[in-house]
Amino acid sequence: MSMLEVDGLRTGYGSLPVLQGISFSVEEGQTAVIFGLNGAGKTTTVNCLAGLLPVWGGEIRFDGKKVSGKDAQGIVKAGISLSPEGRRVWPGLSVMKNLELGAWSRKDRNKIDETVQMVFGYFPRLDERKSQLAGTLSGGEQQMLAIGRAIMSKPRLLMIDEASLGLSPKLAQTVFQVVSQINDDGTTVVIVEQNVGVLPYADQALIMEKGTITFDGRGEELEKSGELRRTYLGDAAAAEH
Ligand SMILES: Nc1ncnc2c1ncn2[C@@H]1O[C@H](COP(=O)(O)OP(=O)(O)OP(=O)(O)O)[C@@H](O)[C@H]1O
Ligand SMILES: [Mg+2]
Repeated sequence: MSMLEVDGLRTGYGSLPVLQGISFSVEEGQTAVIFGLNGAGKTTTVNCLAGLLPVWGGEIRFDGKKVSGKDAQGIVKAGISLSPEGRRVWPGLSVMKNLELGAWSRKDRNKIDETVQMVFGYFPRLDERKSQLAGTLSGGEQQMLAIGRAIMSKPRLLMIDEASLGLSPKLAQTVFQVVSQINDDGTTVVIVEQNVGVLPYADQALIMEKGTITFDGRGEELEKSGELRRTYLGDAAAAEH
């Protein structure tokens, strides 16, 4: 049994269908990356998994238990957390307060403090800026905070939507390395990316096109297959390959 099982999932907006019945699974302890062009349905997928969009059809199972139908809070309590697209930290609150609010589902004060220290271990920059208002952080620091806040609920599955968007190549690599560390420390990761620099950190790679999954395999297979070139550069470029 895989940790996450998505089975024929359908959703959309109003009367507009987006996900056409997608199926995939993620094994515990692994890092899965979802690639795809703008509008492919990547954010729709992770938002639906996070309980932010209604499930129109199909099922989501976590540890074998059905979680589709739970609301966003229920999903967090089940052990799944999302660092959303566009970061969405609370700009008028301090770094510390943003992190503390990420732990809303937990009670034990000491354990919450331990997790704050863990986040500061991953992102020392946040420790240096813990009293600073989140809105005054750089884009990269806000990304660190969004990921840190998502960790504060102690998820077993962490989803990150567009971790590297708008970051310098160097900072993107730093973020990928920290995500890899988080994964090594025992958290399963699903990461939405357009930056193929994440591939060395991925066990599993998925490609989405028009609300469907067109590739699902090992990260190494994807590198060899030419599918990424086809997706991002068009058929002609892949044919030449
Ligand atoms: N709030 C919304 N209302 C209506 N349609 C939406 C909404 N959000 C997304 N869509 C549509 O759903 C489809 C999938 O969008 P989605 O944001 O999931 O793509 P994405 O793969 O995350 O793209 P990007 O790489 O640009 O973030 C697109 O056609 C988009 O226009
Ligand atoms: Mg998106």
